[in-house]
Amino acid sequence: MLFFGNKLAYKKYRKLWQGMYEAKKITKEAMDAALSTFMPLYEHASEAMLKTDATIDTSLAAMQFMLIAQAHGYDTNAIACYDASKAAESVGLDPEQFVPVMAIAIGKSAKAPAAMKTSRYDIGELVDYQ
Ligand SMILES: Cc1cc2nc3c(=O)[nH]c(=O)nc-3n(C[C@H](O)[C@H](O)[C@H](O)COP(=O)(O)O)c2cc1C
Repeated sequence: MLFFGNKLAYKKYRKLWQGMYEAKKITKEAMDAALSTFMPLYEHASEAMLKTDATIDTSLAAMQFMLIAQAHGYDTNAIACYDASKAAESVGLDPEQFVPVMAIAIGKSAKAPAAMKTSRYDIGELVDYQ
């Protein structure tokens, strides 16, 4: 599976919030306050900000995909070493709009023992508690 971030995802936010208002999940004031706060940020965002935002959102979705796959008995493997410059076009997406984030292989692991045993960093090397 190839995961792409959509730099123009924010264009759907107004419709989402409008739906929340129509479903009486939020007040009109809350909708207007939220949209008037973050829509201008996106509408005037730099290319770098839109790319970073799309990458963050898609990374979360990719992680969710891996966890859900595992819960259904599948194994996954994240892959970054592919030709990202050709990824979008290879699946018919506009490379100006869609940011390649990662590929994920999915399947059932071989019954044979793994060729390589892997380790994890000690948690203290990754997380600082202050
Ligand atoms: C975002 C990301 C990209 C990765 N890209 C590659 C890759 O391109 N090639 C590769 O051999 N391993 C890559 N890895 C490492 C493997 O996905 C995998 O995590 C590693 O082989 C350890 O296996 P394990 O998670 O089963 O212990 C990547 C890992 C991450 C998190």
